[in-house]
Amino acid sequence: ALACIMIHFLRVASSAAAAGRVRPRPPTRAVAAIVRCVSSSPPASCSVDADAKASASLSVDPRYVDSATAPANFSPSSAVVYPGAVSEREADALVQDIQLRMKRRRYEKGHWDAVITLYKEVELPLPSESFIGGSSGNGGGGGGPQVLSDLSVAAINRIKRQLEKKHFGPDGARDQEGQTKDRLPIQWIPCHGIDLKKEGRLTAHVDSVRYSGFVVAGLSLLSASIMRLRPAAEYSCSRSNNDDGTDKQQQQQQQHLYEPKPSEAPNDGHVDLYLPPRSLYVLSGVSRYEYTHELLPDGSSFEMLPGDAGGGAGNTIEASRDRRISVIFRDAKEV
Ligand code: OGA
Ligand code: MN
Repeated sequence: ALACIMIHFLRVASSAAAAGRVRPRPPTRAVAAIVRCVSSSPPASCSVDADAKASASLSVDPRYVDSATAPANFSPSSAVVYPGAVSEREADALVQDIQLRMKRRRYEKGHWDAVITLYKEVELPLPSESFIGGSSGNGGGGGGPQVLSDLSVAAINRIKRQLEKKHFGPDGARDQEGQTKDRLPIQWIPCHGIDLKKEGRLTAHVDSVRYSGFVVAGLSLLSASIMRLRPAAEYSCSRSNNDDGTDKQQQQQQQHLYEPKPSEAPNDGHVDLYLPPRSLYVLSGVSRYEYTHELLPDGSSFEMLPGDAGGGAGNTIEASRDRRISVIFRDAKEV
C-alpha cells in the first residue's frame, strides 16, 4: 500500500511545490523559485544570546504528544516536540525578519479547496544558500536588503545542526525505502516562513515526497496550536487513475489526496501535538510519509499528560487559534 501511495504522490506532485508541501495553488500565483541547495556553513557565532545556551541542548517533552488514540503503526519517535528550541530574543528576531520579508504582501486566500488559506509564505535563505531562477513574489532572495539578522541565522543554523544530530545518521530517520541519510552535512531546502492568520487554516496533507526529504520540522512562533496526525492510508490508490498530466487534473487529484475523508475511516485514530510558541516539532518516518498533518481549528483542545514533577492528573489545554508564524525545515530529497 505504501508503494502505491508513493507512486501516487510522485504523480501528483506539481512543479509549483518548490520546497515541499504539495497543494493546489491558484493559477495566477507565481511559481516559486527552483532551489539549489549548497552545503550549510558552520553555525554562526551565537554566543551573544545567553538564552541560546539554554536552547543548545534540546530535549523532547513527551507530554506534548497525545498518542492515546494512535493507530497501531504509529512510532513515538516519528513525531516529537522540543519546547524552547529558540530563545525569546531569537523568536523576536525571527518574527521581525519574517514580517519584514512579507511586508509588501497580502494574505493569500487560497481557493476553496486549498490546503492552506489566509497565509503568507516566504523563503528564508541563509547567506550560504544560493538560488537558480528568480523568486518573484517570494519576498526577495538572499543578498538583498532583507537579509536575515545574525540572531535568526544563528537560530536556524543551530536547529539544523540539532536536527542532523538527533534525526539523521544510522539510527535516524528512514525514507520510504528504509534508507537512512548519514552523509553529513545534510542538504537543506531553504527554510520557509509561514504567517497564518487567525482565521487561516491548514488542512490535512502530506509534504511532497518529490522535493522534500526524510524530515519535516517546524518552529512555532507567536501563538500555540495543535497539530493532528492521521493515517494517510485512507487515500487509496484506486482514487484517480487518469494520467493526462494537466495541471487541472493534478489539482483535482491533489484534492482527493489531501482532502480528509474522516467519515470513511472513523476508527483510524490520530495523534495530536501541542505546539506552544518557540517549540519545534519534528516529523519523520511514518509520521512524515504515512500520516497527514493539519492544524486543528480554533477552540480545539489538547489532553496534556501529567508531568514527571508534581504528578497528579493531566489537564486539558484549550488552544484558541491566533495568528501564527512558523519556520519550516526540510531536508532536500537526494537525487
Ligand atoms: C507546511 C506545513 C505546518 C506549520 O507548510 O507544509 O505543514 O507548522 N506547515 O506551519
Ligand atoms: Mn506540511
